[in-house]
Amino acid sequence: MFGLRTVRVFSVVLHCLATANAIPNNDSPSHDLVARAFPPAPDLTIASWIWTTTAGISGVPPGTSTFRLTFKPDPTLPLANISVAISADNAYNFYFNGTLYGSGYDWQSPNIWTINNVPSTAPWVFSIVATNYALGLDDFSVNPAGMIASFVASSASLQRSYTWFTGQPGNTWKATDLVLENFYSPTLDDSAWPPAVFETVHGGGPWGFLPPPNAACRIN
Ligand SMILES: *[C@@H]1O[C@H](CO)[C@@H](O)[C@H](O)[C@H]1NC(C)=O
Ligand SMILES: *[C@@H]1O[C@H](CO)[C@@H](O)[C@H](O)[C@H]1NC(C)=O
Repeated sequence: MFGLRTVRVFSVVLHCLATANAIPNNDSPSHDLVARAFPPAPDLTIASWIWTTTAGISGVPPGTSTFRLTFKPDPTLPLANISVAISADNAYNFYFNGTLYGSGYDWQSPNIWTINNVPSTAPWVFSIVATNYALGLDDFSVNPAGMIASFVASSASLQRSYTWFTGQPGNTWKATDLVLENFYSPTLDDSAWPPAVFETVHGGGPWGFLPPPNAACRIN
């Protein structure tokens, strides 16, 4: 039978480019401290932690859970760049329409992943596999588990963007601890999956306030 299995979060090399912007000299002829970057970076502070059970906020056994969101893009941005900031306690892989785009192993260091020039004519399917680690080699006691994500879709030519995030009403993430081999497939029928459950807003629970996500990450 097409069975259940434990999916290991891949061991990939993560590169994050330094993106510190120098503050222009006061005597520079064209200093522009008020200009806003476009597109805006995805903001985790507006998002909420979710999991497969409300017990995740206090403690669940070590294990792997999968999450899916089938998102209807705004067709008035015919082509969009998608940026997503993610953190998961403890580790995640992030997929868009069946392709792996990012991984993270440290919930205290959220990352930003970008998918360029995506047509808005069809649904966007986001999948995340997240693993709650054991506390130690011989310690399988329950411990907190959560996932939080915030998205921005933007069009450089139209200079327009919009955002969505975990915990937002109307954006129903599906979530299950029964990890299917093809959990990330865009064509998987997840209609029977239960909805993900709300744990806490950003800043709450055992996680507190996260630092701003690290931009310009890529995996290879
Ligand atoms: C996506 O980003 C790339 C690189 O910055 C840019 O060249 C391209 O125009 C962007 N596409 C959209 C749809 O905004
Ligand atoms: C994503 O996958 C869905 C389901 O297969 C498909 O309808 C859609 O065209 C895909 N979208 C993109 C941008 O590849």
